[in-house]
Amino acid sequence: MNLRKITVTMLVALMTSQLSIAQKTTTVELKPSEEAPTISKHIYGHFAEHLGRCIYGGFYVGEDSDIPNTNGVRNDIIVALKDLKIPNLRWPGGCFADTYHWKDGIGPKEDRPTIVNRWWGGVTEDNSFGTHDFLNLCEVLETEPYLAGNVGSGTVQELIDWVQYTNHDGKSPMSDLRKKNGREKPWNVKYWGIGNEAWGCGGNMTPEYYSDEYRKYATFLSGWSNESGIFRIASGASSSDYKWTEVLMKNIKHNLLEGMALHHYSVIDWNNKSSSTGFEEEHYFKTMTEALKMEELIEKHTAIMDKYDPENKIALVVDEWGGWYDTDKGPNGTPLFQQNTMRDAMIAGVTLNIFNNRADRVKMANLAQTVNVLQAVILTDAETNKMLLTPTYHVMKMYNVHQDATLIPVEFESPKYEFNGESLPAVSISASKKEGKTHISLTNIDAEKENTIELDVTNLGIKNASGLILKSDKLQDHNTFDNPEKITPSEFKDFKLKKGKLSLTLPPLSVVVLEAK
Ligand code: AHR
Repeated sequence: MNLRKITVTMLVALMTSQLSIAQKTTTVELKPSEEAPTISKHIYGHFAEHLGRCIYGGFYVGEDSDIPNTNGVRNDIIVALKDLKIPNLRWPGGCFADTYHWKDGIGPKEDRPTIVNRWWGGVTEDNSFGTHDFLNLCEVLETEPYLAGNVGSGTVQELIDWVQYTNHDGKSPMSDLRKKNGREKPWNVKYWGIGNEAWGCGGNMTPEYYSDEYRKYATFLSGWSNESGIFRIASGASSSDYKWTEVLMKNIKHNLLEGMALHHYSVIDWNNKSSSTGFEEEHYFKTMTEALKMEELIEKHTAIMDKYDPENKIALVVDEWGGWYDTDKGPNGTPLFQQNTMRDAMIAGVTLNIFNNRADRVKMANLAQTVNVLQAVILTDAETNKMLLTPTYHVMKMYNVHQDATLIPVEFESPKYEFNGESLPAVSISASKKEGKTHISLTNIDAEKENTIELDVTNLGIKNASGLILKSDKLQDHNTFDNPEKITPSEFKDFKLKKGKLSLTLPPLSVVVLEAK
């Protein structure tokens, strides 16, 4: 036996196997374009429903609480949401919206009637958080309110009264009532949803029937030519219900319609959604498959909208998105309370990149939901009242640099994230430019492998760069009330800028945002 020969053969084999383990570099072209759209800041919107501990016991603890608050809303939540630069906040639902009668929530709090929240646990609410409380909060947060009107169990009169109450500057029965309740100037609410999930909890309507209802509500909401500039949003499709979008686009007159909604949750099985923290990679892979489906949904709903609205006047509004798992048991386990792990950070990273890249049609979106419900950005502890920021919060904050920036189209073929014989694109990227700064956000969803990327920035005149990274070793890693900073962004230095090429390696399960100028 020739030992020398064996050694050389073994060496060659070793080198070859090492080469195949090392990731190939993925080349990404950033192509600034004159036609590229602005990424509307409203893509970074949020959603607060009367559900579980989102409003009561979440945002709102009441004026008499020991927890420092402003008009009953926790100060720590206000600070966190201001830092996040949330552009709009949708309220009061969700399914709750089609049961909500806004006049129950105005006037002296002790006189407000109680109601039963029939969709979410049948709990009795005292209406202490109502229209003034919400709209004043939006002013404090410097965010635009997005009110969801009650079509399912309300009336046209009730909704136009609400618009009068919030927006009328002159004398009218509703503006007089507003003034009597302590608010002189109108709030001028621009965004109005006409019902919610009309195909389901909003009334189980057919798209044809809802289109007619919508036409009636939209007509009275805004007058002859919508001179007040109200932005009317139709209750949109659930995920891939393309027929819903088609019928609405065909049947609703376009001078009555500014936005078409779409809801899509990353849920793996409605009957077995799996635990928010006790899940396996198999569940993660399925969740990411659902999250990445957003791209196809936007493409197909947009194709229908393009057919009826070739001038692209009507916005696609994804006003509910996020991960949905089984409700956590234990002290925090009120309806739809779930922890938030690196899986959620990955959902946020890829979804926001999809929205940015489709900013031509997607003009608004709302993560479900803000506090203590579904893919929340903030959790509060029911027993200790501690509060924490979730990994999703950090991703939303890192990405907010794209708000109102010009999209830079990105072209590349993603390396694969392979699991059990199936694969997904591992890397997602979006980029934008504003005030001389370029921002590039990258997410690597691969649970095991790093990915090496070379960004061709030749056309962007970049001289230096800096970055932030959010990462953690395990998919299930999350922040807890005892360790609220386990997952927080840190400085990212692992990149090189040389001759118009920005090269970096993305660790597994990581989100990176680079700023370059
Ligand atoms: O976000 C939770 C619920 O999901 C909303 O109330 C409803 O619109 C959707 O089905």
